[in-house]
Amino acid sequence: MKARTTLATAAALGMALLTAPLMAQDADFNPEDYDIARGKEVYERIGVCVQCHGWDGNGMGRNPRSVGIAPKLREFPDDAELLHEVIACGRPFTEMPYHDRNAYSDGRCYDMTLEDFDEGEAPTRGKSIRDADIDNLVAYMLTDVIGAGDTTLEQCEAFFEPGHRNCAPLANR
Ligand code: HEC
Repeated sequence: MKARTTLATAAALGMALLTAPLMAQDADFNPEDYDIARGKEVYERIGVCVQCHGWDGNGMGRNPRSVGIAPKLREFPDDAELLHEVIACGRPFTEMPYHDRNAYSDGRCYDMTLEDFDEGEAPTRGKSIRDADIDNLVAYMLTDVIGAGDTTLEQCEAFFEPGHRNCAPLANR
C-alpha cells in the first residue's frame, strides 16, 4: 500500500520526488566515503559501545549501568547527523555518555557547558573519540547496525569470527 502511494505520488510529482532524498539533512553523508572497518573498531574497542549496547546494538550489553535501558540501536533512524550528535554529546540526564571530550566546554553541545548542570547531574564522560572517528563509527552503524533486523548467525560471525563462542546461542537456534 505504502509503495503504491509512493509510486503514484512520484508519478504525479515527476522528477521532483526522485531528487527529494538528496535534500534530506544528511544526504551528503555517504558511508562509503568513510572507513567502516575502523568504525567497527571504534564501536567495539575505542568507544566501547558494545559494553552497553551489545555487539549487535540490540541493547544487551553487560554494563550494569545500562542493562535493560540501552535502546535498540538497530531501530534507530537512518540519520547520520542525529547519530553524530548523540555520540558526541551523549544524552544529558541519562546513562548515555558523551564522547567528544570538549562536548561541554564551549557550548558546542546543546549550547550547554558543565556549569549549566547541577551537582551530580553533569553528563557522563565516555571514552574520547575524535570527530573523524565519530564519522567512521556513524558510517559503520548505518551500514551494519541500523536497520539490520533480527540478529543473525552470519552477522555474528562477521563481527567476531566463524565459530566464535559468542555466536553459539545463535547457531543452536
Ligand atoms: C554506559 C553505557 C553506554 C555506553 C558506553 C554507550 N551508550 Fe549509547 N546509550 C546508553 C543508554 C542508557 C542510552 C539511552 C539514553 C536515553 O535514555 O535516552 C543510550 C542511547 C544511545 C543512542 C540513542 C538511541 C535512541 O534510540 O534514542 C545512540 C545512537 C547510542 N546510545 C549510541 C552509542 C554509541 C555509538 C556508543 C559508543 C560510542 C554508545 N552509545 C555508548 C548507554 C550507553
